[in-house]
Amino acid sequence: MLASRVRLCFSAILIIAALVGCSGERGSTESLGTAEQQHKAAELLYKQNCKVCHAQGINGAPIVGNKKMWADRLPQGVDVLVKHAVEGYGLMPAKGGKDHLTEAEIRQIVEYYVAMAN
Ligand code: HEC
Repeated sequence: MLASRVRLCFSAILIIAALVGCSGERGSTESLGTAEQQHKAAELLYKQNCKVCHAQGINGAPIVGNKKMWADRLPQGVDVLVKHAVEGYGLMPAKGGKDHLTEAEIRQIVEYYVAMAN
């Protein structure tokens, strides 16, 4: 419970950092450092588990960092995106076929996707 709250907090920082980054790298380096670490951890999970489809759009997988491809998906909200990633959605296999991932890890990756699509 606490861990998920901490994650939620980190994602908020991540999104804020992304927004600040877009508007010209303002904000304290300290908070950016923490968000940066969280971003890197999520990126690593993504690379290990999801990149095989989501880097190149295999089977129509939305490419991470491609804002256009995520534009229609983002309005569903993170919770629905996480649910789809956990349970499977169209040609997206449940958890990307990586059963060992926890829902919290999936959420971390999805939040990374969302940050990259904003
Ligand atoms: C085997 C290929 C494959 C892998 C591996 C994969 N995905 Fe996907 N993913 C897809 C495809 C294809 C779609 C598009 C599904 C559709 O819209 O019909 C998709 C869509 C999604 C979506 C958008 C769902 C929505 O509601 O629009 C999310 C979020 C997602 N994947 C997360 C992940 C995460 C997190 C991982 C790694 C744990 C992952 N995917 C691994 C193929 C993959």
